[in-house]
Amino acid sequence: MHPSARAHRVYYGLFVIICQYGGFHTMAATILFVSPDPFYRAMWEGLLSDQGYKLFTTGGAEAAFLACPELLLDLVVVHILLPADHGFEVCRRLKADPRNRLMPVVLLMESPGAEDFSLARKSGASEVWEQFHTREELLLRMRSILELKSDLDQQAAEVIISIARIIESRNPYARGHSERLSNFAVRFGKSLGFREDDLEVLRLAGLLHDIGNIAIPDAILFKSGPLNREDIRVVERHPAEGERICAPFRSFRHALPIIRYHHERMDGSGYPDGLKGDHIPLIAKIFQVVDICDALTSDRPQRRGLPLPAALTVMYEEAEMGWLDPELVSHFASLVIGADHAMALARSCRSFPAQTGQWLKHS
Ligand SMILES: [Fe+2]
Repeated sequence: MHPSARAHRVYYGLFVIICQYGGFHTMAATILFVSPDPFYRAMWEGLLSDQGYKLFTTGGAEAAFLACPELLLDLVVVHILLPADHGFEVCRRLKADPRNRLMPVVLLMESPGAEDFSLARKSGASEVWEQFHTREELLLRMRSILELKSDLDQQAAEVIISIARIIESRNPYARGHSERLSNFAVRFGKSLGFREDDLEVLRLAGLLHDIGNIAIPDAILFKSGPLNREDIRVVERHPAEGERICAPFRSFRHALPIIRYHHERMDGSGYPDGLKGDHIPLIAKIFQVVDICDALTSDRPQRRGLPLPAALTVMYEEAEMGWLDPELVSHFASLVIGADHAMALARSCRSFPAQTGQWLKHS
């Protein structure tokens, strides 16, 4: 293997080889090879070294259970070494986790018999592979199952996006919010010099960020009066619900931080995790600024939408209060009303104490 073609690190107790073709968003298929035998683990590392996959290897099933949902794997290959092996149980436990629903698990074993195929089916394995005679044979089967998984993921993702659109269309005050948000988030991202794949993540998040609202009862979602404490507690579940819904889909992988963290605040007073400052992913903070601006300028059952300068004033105030990233608010204001007006607005906001007024509960 060429040294520049891979990077090593330990992650969740797993050994990872990144067959580098780029950075975070290259969407190289992510594969985990589980084998108690170090010889086979080394062999797989060699076999897949220059194929553009991100390969994790481990000898321990527990590491696999822990890491699978986090790594959002595209394929797990479990090597079964008879007689004292529990590969079927590893497969069963992996597939029992709903977050691994779309992730194929392949069992690799020597000369499987009829009973092995039966056990494999019961454990939820997608396929049983025998040892390979050539590298090409392995790569062909690997490519085939990954393509199948990718097609399935794509189709399922389209269904989820349709559901997100249906949810939005049921709420007269939310209609058009997602499209506007997608367009504006992309424009904001471009102004910050984001790459094309990050812009695509922002676009997708515009459509999906509130899909967790599907888990919120209509009586709360469409309530015309103010929400009580219990209602608020229920509404605040929507980011985590949205993440849970979207987590199994490869296409949504990079939008998950936005879906989960778009209601966090810089001072830690947001939800669902109360993250602070730099612990909130930048892309989520960027999206949040656009989301809040759209919410403030849109009509709601209890109020009319604010004119843009007034909405930006509220956002400057929220930055002063430690909720929003002041630099991002400033940059966003410059983008939408021009640098001179943005500076004048910022100055006027600093001249007055922040007002915890009627607009601050806006989303
Ligand atoms: Fe939300």
